Amino acid sequence: MKISNRGAIPPFIVMDVMKAAAEREAMGAGVLHMEVGQPSTPAPGGVIAAAKRALDGDLLGYTLATGILPLRQRIVRHYLEYYGVTLSPERICVTTGSSAAFLLTFLAAFDPGDKVAILRPGYPCYRNILGALDIEAVEVPVGPDSRFQPTLAALDAAGGGDLDGLLIASPANPTGSMLREGELRAILNYCRARNIRYISDEIYHQITYGGATSTAVAHDENAVVINSFSKYYSMTGWRLGWMVLPEEMLRPVERLAQNLFISAPSLAQHAAVAAFDCSGELDANVARYARNRDLLLAELPKAGLDRFAPADGAFYIYADVAKFTDDAVAFCAKMLAQTGVAATPGNDFDPVNGASHVRFSFAGSEDDMAEACRRLRDWLGKET
Ligand SMILES: Cc1ncc(COP(=O)(O)O)c(C=O)c1O
Repeated sequence: MKISNRGAIPPFIVMDVMKAAAEREAMGAGVLHMEVGQPSTPAPGGVIAAAKRALDGDLLGYTLATGILPLRQRIVRHYLEYYGVTLSPERICVTTGSSAAFLLTFLAAFDPGDKVAILRPGYPCYRNILGALDIEAVEVPVGPDSRFQPTLAALDAAGGGDLDGLLIASPANPTGSMLREGELRAILNYCRARNIRYISDEIYHQITYGGATSTAVAHDENAVVINSFSKYYSMTGWRLGWMVLPEEMLRPVERLAQNLFISAPSLAQHAAVAAFDCSGELDANVARYARNRDLLLAELPKAGLDRFAPADGAFYIYADVAKFTDDAVAFCAKMLAQTGVAATPGNDFDPVNGASHVRFSFAGSEDDMAEACRRLRDWLGKET
């Protein structure tokens, strides 16, 4: 029987690495996890307490397709307090992780055959979800010359006015690179002048190491902002995210959300209202990421890994491993088998140059990071 072409999208390779690491653990061998793009901490205490209260006290049935009002109101307050931006709760749509937000945004904003620019290297699911929807993902190659973010000339080279959308994450995965405020404004002006819908993936906001983040919606009412409770809020498995939508997309997104998801998980929504009051615990996580980052930036060069993207935010170091391999998948498999350190091959993020790159996540414990550095130094010392 027929199987659709749209389902023929690539796997999300990091999930395959996670599977190999889990198999190793099942056999009783230890793994130092640097592959997973998720915090090594549970949800903050306030969220867990709120979830327990909700379990006892709430029906936990379906919610409005766009999310419960108290959560949308709390998100609005967050925009005012953190970014100084005033929004109405109607512009917020709560989603099943930011992953669902991409699907809803792409469906509401674009038609099959439309062109949406994404960065290479970049988060692989953008390309894969667009592909499944028959929307053309136009890759904008970025590299060290522009700190792994696009210049206006690079957008011109990717088609400029022919584009229907542009999606950028800042801080980015896998590079951790960030757009500076002036660059964000220039890109928004570029898009506005050419009717290009700007989609801002702000999932790594609040995980930064010095530079400030500014939300796209502060500068452009037509931008779609996508965010999530997965990273800063340490709630990956609760599957909750949100969008800030332009007026004209509210009803289309609501109709799509009603039909595709009915609502985001109810328990997670009730609990997440408390997440915004847990900044003490959450900022302590970020302080640990910062210490891990300092350690890796000092120690990885001693292992011969000394070419990185600027890790200005998020919790990744994207390292050039060309001097060791041109097959990062095999390299990572061997590294896991011989050292117990799990990391993600760059192939996931960059179909062209990714095979000579590896992404190390430093969201784990400080002890694990230090031990991983020791083992990599030993192992790569022998590899050269
Ligand atoms: C840049 C980026 N966007 C979106 C996501 C998806 O996150 P979630 O669906 O958990 O919100 C991830 C996950 O790693 C990511 O790195």
